[in-house]
Amino acid sequence: MKVIMLGAPGAGKGTQAKMIADEYKIPHISTGDIFRANIKNGTELGKKAKTYMDKGELVPDELVVDLIMSRFAEDDCKNGYVLDGFPRTIPQAEALDAALAKNDDHVDVAIDIEVPDENIIRRMGGRRACTNCGATYHVVYNPPKVEGVCDVCGQKLILRDDDKPETVKNRLNVYHTQTQPLINYYKKKDILKTVDGTQDMNKVFADIKAVLG
Ligand code: AP5
Repeated sequence: MKVIMLGAPGAGKGTQAKMIADEYKIPHISTGDIFRANIKNGTELGKKAKTYMDKGELVPDELVVDLIMSRFAEDDCKNGYVLDGFPRTIPQAEALDAALAKNDDHVDVAIDIEVPDENIIRRMGGRRACTNCGATYHVVYNPPKVEGVCDVCGQKLILRDDDKPETVKNRLNVYHTQTQPLINYYKKKDILKTVDGTQDMNKVFADIKAVLG
C-alpha cells in the first residue's frame, strides 16, 4: 500500500502517518524528519536544507526528489510506505508518478487532512518535538508523561525553529501557493480522500482507517 499524506503544516500528517505505519506495518517516510536528521548530523544536505527550512520555504525539488528516490530503494519499502511531507509540489508529484510507472506501479490513496489556518497557528506554538527519535507531542492535546521529556527515548523536547509564529505564517502561505494544488492533482486521479483534521486525533485515525480498509 502506498499512501500520501496531504495537509497544511501542523494539520497532523506526522501524527497520523506514525499511526498508519504501526497499524499497516509499512514505513513512515517524512522528508522533514530526514532533513532534520541531516541538519543534526551536519551533513552538506542538512546545511543546504536548513537555509530554506528556517525561512519556512521549500527545499528545491531536485534535492528532495533525489533524496526520496534513494529512500525508496531500501528494503523496507517493498510492501509500500506512508509518505509525510512528500510530494509537496506538482513537479515532485509528477516525479513520483514517473518513478512508480517504471515498475507499472502507482500511488493508492492520497489523504488530505483538513484543518483551517486559525487552528494551525494555535497548534504549532504547542508542539514539542524530540530531536533524538522524532516523536512529537502537544502541550495540551498530546502531552508527554513528564513535561519536556520524550516518552519514547527520554531525551529533551524542543520547540522547532520553524514553529515560531512568523515562520508558521510563511509556511502556510507557501502551503497554499505550492502544495494545495496537489489536492486537485489527486482528485483528478480519483484517489483523493478527505478527513476532518479538527477532531480528536484518535477520531481522525478512525476516519483514516475507514478509508484505508
Ligand atoms: P515538515 O516536517 O514536513 O513540516 P510540515 O509539513 O510543515 O508539517 P509538520 O511536521 O509541521 O506538521 P504535521 O502536519 O506533520 O503535524 P503534526 O502531526 O506534527 O517540513 C518542514 C520543512 O522541511 C518544510 O517547511 C520545508 O522547508 C522542508 N521540506 C520537507 N519536505 C519537503 C518537500 N517535499 N519539498 C520541499 N521542502 C520540504 O501535528 C502538529 C501538532 O498538532 C503536534 O503538536 C500534534 O501533537 C498536534 N496534533 C496533531 N493532530 C491533532 C489533533 N487532531 N488535534 C489536536 N492536536 C493535534
